[in-house]
Amino acid sequence: MQEDEAARRIDQLRREIGRHNYLYYVKDAPEVSDAEYDVLFRELQGLEAEHPDLVAPDSPTQRVGAAPAEKFAQVRHRQPMLSLQNAMTEGEARAFDARLRRELRDDRPIEYVCEPKFDGLSAELVYESGVLGAGATRGDGTFGEDITANLKTIRSVPLRLGNGATPPKLLEVRGEVLLPVAGFEELNREREMRGESRFANPRNAAAGSTRQLDPRITAARPLQFFAYALGAFDGVRVESQWEILETLRALGFRTSDLTLRAQGIDDVMVAYRALMERRSTLPFEIDGMVVKVNAIALQVRLGEIARSPRWAIAFKFPPERRVTVVEGIEVNVGRTGILTPVAMLRPVAVAGVIVRRATLHNEDEVARKDVRVQDSVVVQRAGDVIPEVVAVVLGVLRGDSPWRMPPSCPSCGGPVTREEGEVARRCANAACPAQLKEHVIHFASRRAMDIEHLGERMTDQLVDGGFIKDVADIYHLRKADLLLLERLADKSAQNLVDAIERSKSRPLSAVVVALGIRHAGEALARVLADRFTSIDALMDASEDEIREALRREGSDAEGGPVVAKSIATFFRNERNRELIRRLREAGVRMEHAGGAAVAGEADPAFAGKTFVFTGTLAVMTRERAQDLVISLGGKAAGSVSRKTHFVVAGEEAGSKLAKARDLGVTVLSEAGFLAMLGDRR
Ligand code: IVH
Repeated sequence: MQEDEAARRIDQLRREIGRHNYLYYVKDAPEVSDAEYDVLFRELQGLEAEHPDLVAPDSPTQRVGAAPAEKFAQVRHRQPMLSLQNAMTEGEARAFDARLRRELRDDRPIEYVCEPKFDGLSAELVYESGVLGAGATRGDGTFGEDITANLKTIRSVPLRLGNGATPPKLLEVRGEVLLPVAGFEELNREREMRGESRFANPRNAAAGSTRQLDPRITAARPLQFFAYALGAFDGVRVESQWEILETLRALGFRTSDLTLRAQGIDDVMVAYRALMERRSTLPFEIDGMVVKVNAIALQVRLGEIARSPRWAIAFKFPPERRVTVVEGIEVNVGRTGILTPVAMLRPVAVAGVIVRRATLHNEDEVARKDVRVQDSVVVQRAGDVIPEVVAVVLGVLRGDSPWRMPPSCPSCGGPVTREEGEVARRCANAACPAQLKEHVIHFASRRAMDIEHLGERMTDQLVDGGFIKDVADIYHLRKADLLLLERLADKSAQNLVDAIERSKSRPLSAVVVALGIRHAGEALARVLADRFTSIDALMDASEDEIREALRREGSDAEGGPVVAKSIATFFRNERNRELIRRLREAGVRMEHAGGAAVAGEADPAFAGKTFVFTGTLAVMTRERAQDLVISLGGKAAGSVSRKTHFVVAGEEAGSKLAKARDLGVTVLSEAGFLAMLGDRR
């Protein structure tokens, strides 16, 4: 295709894709199927691959376009990002309104805009001539962190403003990054499976997801951006908060449809109660209602104090609490053997969720609150999705005797230990079926060994039937064994056997995830696999070497030393080393691809072709890209020569790219390479 023709089509595709993104992520009203969308997206990727000079940073293909950062740069907000004063009670809200009318020397009702108070991470997006240039966290209000690459991955953040109309010269948009409750729960389930700690609430999860050094992690989380305010701007005319919201909506931002105008404080109270009613039915968490004076002229007259505007207030909701009865106290045994007491409750609705169980954290907490079976208790869900028991209701019928942690493991009856300085009791029996089941489920999960058909029920049967005593036994299961299981059809048994066989060639990083090392999740495992390339090298690495690898990749800057220690300790443990030996003997691949890395069929576009990767790739690691090439029948080389067929140039490609140009070797952008791969990645 001619360059100018390509440029026209690229522009057309970008607008079209941008519009579908908007309809899907902002309006919740898609016009095309995912498959139709993919066709457009692929065409754009292909064209951009053929014409790398036409790739622009605001192209939809570039949402996940940046390499992991070392650390975030500080940026100064053009206008400070203020915070809000709180009102906790109706009296305080009324006092706020009375104060404003006094200050304005006008006793007539003030027009307010009432908005939900989103419980997420506040952020600012800077658009110059309609193109998203920068994005930052609020930080201390004056300086924030530059998280542009991460914010770009959020689909409801427009990369380019408006549709055709002339965009403002400058527009700073402020709003909240949120993780819907469903996404939060899913994320925590995955984290638990990996033996990582849960996020305490959707807000922490949104903040943690947005402040990732690797934008690929942010991209994988279903974050949303709701706009609610402007910073500096040039080229828009607005006279009220209501007009600001309308303008934002017209420019393609998502704003809350729970926003309304109120005439005077009585109306505000009505809106507050109505919002509180809806609270539990919303897909995301809100912790109050923000009340803003509508007219900007009045806002200017009122000004600010102590880094908060005088013209707005956050009217908080009380935490949601209910009383119910403890029908029993069970003890859960986690994958790492930790025993957690859990209150089994008479079901009760708290903040829209039916609560049947609430954590009691640990035995010290149970003793401190003196929770007994049969007690009436107050349960709470305040910004926290894991319900907890707040206190026992005194003065009513109570349970007779204080609760005691069982002296032995409720699953295996084995001894339970509690180490100096730890609150947790653990089952010390590594073969404890409760721990083993959790371990097997984790091992087989999609991000680990990806053994389809080995789910919870199958695991229960295999562990209870004595077929699996550690995860390596999975590889010794025979079809004949499986057919002994209850109601397992020949076909299902065969499917499981096949899935187990396929899992032997999972990439090294998946094996690392599968081992279930505390703190070693997927992103970290990828870093380790890239750096050490074999399990042997990783097993023999010192804590310092591991820490260094993590530091260089910018992974987990805060937890680095803890994580490195946890990994090194894991591999020093003789039992773990033995398990790895057994897995290897069973045929599980323990190094980066030498042969067929990822199950795939030879593809004529790749077969016999030599690829060299240079620079940083955005959507996958270099190792993964090499694995894919090999699996499709190609070869991956480290240096460029006349025999090289393709050089794939990522971000900051250097001398290899220059050499490729010298030798006339075909150079592909990452987008071009991905387009060649199609859906095989
Ligand atoms: S307006 C000058 N509107 O609350 C006005 N803030 O304590 C400042 N927030 O940092 C912000 N929902 O993260 C505004 N509808 C809303 C909001 C909202 C949540 C957060 C925001 C801010 C904090 C202020």
